[in-house]
Amino acid sequence: MRAMIFGATGLLGQALMCEWSGDEVIGLSSRDVDIRDKQKVSEKVQSVRAEWIVLAAAYADVDGCESNRERAFAVNRDGAVNVAEAVKAAGAKLLFISSDYVFDGTKTSPYETDDTRNPLGVYGRSKAEAEIHLQELLPDCFIARTSWLFGTGGKCFPDTILKLAATRPTLDVVNDQRGCPTYSVDLARAIIELCRKDTKGIVHVTNAGNCTWFEFAREIVRQAGLTTEVRPVTTQQMPRPAQRPANSVLSPTSLERLGITLPGWQDALARYFRERAV
Ligand SMILES: NC(=O)c1ccc[n+]([C@@H]2O[C@H](COP(=O)([O-])OP(=O)(O)OC[C@H]3O[C@@H](n4cnc5c(N)ncnc54)[C@H](OP(=O)(O)O)[C@@H]3O)[C@@H](O)[C@H]2O)c1
Repeated sequence: MRAMIFGATGLLGQALMCEWSGDEVIGLSSRDVDIRDKQKVSEKVQSVRAEWIVLAAAYADVDGCESNRERAFAVNRDGAVNVAEAVKAAGAKLLFISSDYVFDGTKTSPYETDDTRNPLGVYGRSKAEAEIHLQELLPDCFIARTSWLFGTGGKCFPDTILKLAATRPTLDVVNDQRGCPTYSVDLARAIIELCRKDTKGIVHVTNAGNCTWFEFAREIVRQAGLTTEVRPVTTQQMPRPAQRPANSVLSPTSLERLGITLPGWQDALARYFRERAV
C-alpha cells in the first residue's frame, strides 16, 4: 500500500511517519504543498497515486484562529475541500483528522460520533464545516476525531507545563474543561490500523479515560517528580481568546466497535516522558 500524508511535519504527522512501517509512505509539509493551492494539491495527488491520503495538515492554533479567521477557514475548510476533490478525482481514500472542538461541550456524558456539531470558536467551526463538505464530496471518507494531542514532535500541553513548573513554585490551571488527552504515538498506531481495516465514517480516537486540564497538569508534575503546586482555577479566571467546550470527552464506543482500545492517558503520559528522555 502507498499512503501520502499532508501535515507530515506536525505533532501527529511526525508520529505517523515514525510508526507507519511496511507500506510506502510519502510525507508532505506546507512547503512541499500548501493545501490552499488547489492546483498543486491536485497535481500532487494525481502524480503520487496513493491508496490512502491522510489529511493531518491544519491551522491548529485554537486562539490564533480567532484573530486569523480567514486563514483558519482557508486552511482547515477550503484546504480540506481541495484535498477531498483531488482524492475523489484520483479514486483514492481520504482520512481527515478532525477535532473534539466541533462540539459545544454542553453534553453531560461523552460525545458519540453522531452527536450534533455545534462549535464554539473559529477553529471548531472551520473543522466542523470541513467535515460536512467532505462527507458530501466523499460519503465514504474516514474522519478521525481526536483531542488534547501531546507528543514529542512539537509544542504541547505537557511540554508547556514542564517548562512553567521548572521556573514557578505554583501553577494555576483550569479545572472546568474536561477532555481526553491523546498521545500522538497511540493515535498514529490506531490510525494506521484503521486505514488497513478500510475504515469509513466518523470514529473517535483518543486515549482511554478523561480529565480536566488541572488534573492533567497535576499528573504531569507528579510523573516528572516536581514539587510545583498545581492549583485549580475556573475558565473565567483565565480568559483566552477562544471559547472552549466545558466537556469535550469523546466516547470510545466507535473505536471499540472496530476492535481497538487505546491505553489510558496516564500510561500514555508515562511513555511520552520516556520518549522525551531519549
Ligand atoms: N493538537 C491538538 O490538540 C489537536 C486536537 C484535536 C485535533 N487535532 C487535529 O489533528 C491534526 C494534527 O494536528 P497537529 O497538532 O499535529 O498539528 P501541528 O503540529 O500544528 O501541525 C500542523 C501540520 O499542518 C501543516 N500545515 C499547516 N498549514 C498548512 C497548509 N496551508 N498547507 C499544508 N500543510 C499545512 C504543517 O506543515 P508545516 O510544518 O510546513 O507548517 C504541519 O505539518 C490537525 O488536523 C488538527 O486539527 C489536533
